[in-house]
Amino acid sequence: MTTTTSLNLDTPLTIGGIELRNRFIMAPMQQYKGSPEGYATEHHVQHYSRRAKGIGLMIVESTAVSDNGRLWPNDIGIYSDRHTEMLKRVTDAVHTRDTPIFVQLSHGGRKSAPEVTDRLIAPSAIPYDESYGKPAELSISEIEALIEDYRMAARRSIMAGFDGIEVHAAHGFLIHQFLSPISNLRNDAYGGTRLGRMKFLKDTLAAIRSETGRNYPVIVRISSTDYIDGGLNPQEHAMILKSLEADGLLDGVDVSSGGLLPIQPADIHPGYQLPDAAAIKQHLQIPVIAVGKIYTRSFADRIIRDGLADAVAIGQPLLEDPDFAQKMIGLKE
Ligand SMILES: Cc1cc2nc3c(=O)[nH]c(=O)nc-3n(C[C@H](O)[C@H](O)[C@H](O)COP(=O)(O)O)c2cc1C
Repeated sequence: MTTTTSLNLDTPLTIGGIELRNRFIMAPMQQYKGSPEGYATEHHVQHYSRRAKGIGLMIVESTAVSDNGRLWPNDIGIYSDRHTEMLKRVTDAVHTRDTPIFVQLSHGGRKSAPEVTDRLIAPSAIPYDESYGKPAELSISEIEALIEDYRMAARRSIMAGFDGIEVHAAHGFLIHQFLSPISNLRNDAYGGTRLGRMKFLKDTLAAIRSETGRNYPVIVRISSTDYIDGGLNPQEHAMILKSLEADGLLDGVDVSSGGLLPIQPADIHPGYQLPDAAAIKQHLQIPVIAVGKIYTRSFADRIIRDGLADAVAIGQPLLEDPDFAQKMIGLKE
């Protein structure tokens, strides 16, 4: 007689060669507590270490690869070697809990904080809204300089002790602006067809890999939909991700949604982004992470058991209650 054990939140998972003890991931969430220079602070050391106990993976908040790319004025960055000093304290503190920690690398593009951005840039000169203003269209040499920023950020991520990288290609920030036909109207190698629109992400991943090698986890966070006809959708994302996976550039995908335009989904219910994650998962071998109001153990177990996603990322409850993960996982003190 054969017995099959079904998967659940407690089942270990390997992402890019790193074994997670369970499938509970802390979602990246900005703390708005960086120094004016974009350095992490003592707050970050305490905040992340306090929430790391018992979870499978911690993903640190959006961390800017360029000084002109912070999403908010008090975001943290990784755009000089000096930035790695406090980040190393964060990773050391999380590692004392035996928990792996990834960094989320980002650039805001046309949604970079105007207060700390000298030159607002984007694939095309289309504003997000009036408050951000009109961005300048990136030249090819500026695009190449940005890819170099990601490469240097990857080098520094390793210096800072991170176990992996999540590339932020969601929520309407720079990489998402390249991917979407709504914000990318270029007619050169970085626009037009799907291949053109995904070239910036592909070149960025290749630059990151040139620093990390193949045996270091690199995952991507995407927005599965732009919530508008003519925008990105899960079907197109599946094709983009499948191609990046085939090129050996990706070890996982974290499926969020929206942010390209000031449009909110009509109904934000528990698991509202889950159908898109499940649809994308059908096309991929690499682990898929679901996120969005997945707040109960039974819901998380069902998602994993039914193969809708391989892991769940959880956000807001961890801000409100630092012990939330331990309660949800069911750890005893
Ligand atoms: C205060 C706050 C800050 C956030 N910062 C980020 C971020 O830096 N990067 C990111 O990709 N998502 C960010 N998010 C989105 C979360 O990662 C997550 O996708 C979202 O909160 C939905 O998950 P939840 O329902 O479990 O909170 C943030 C969310 C909140 C509430």
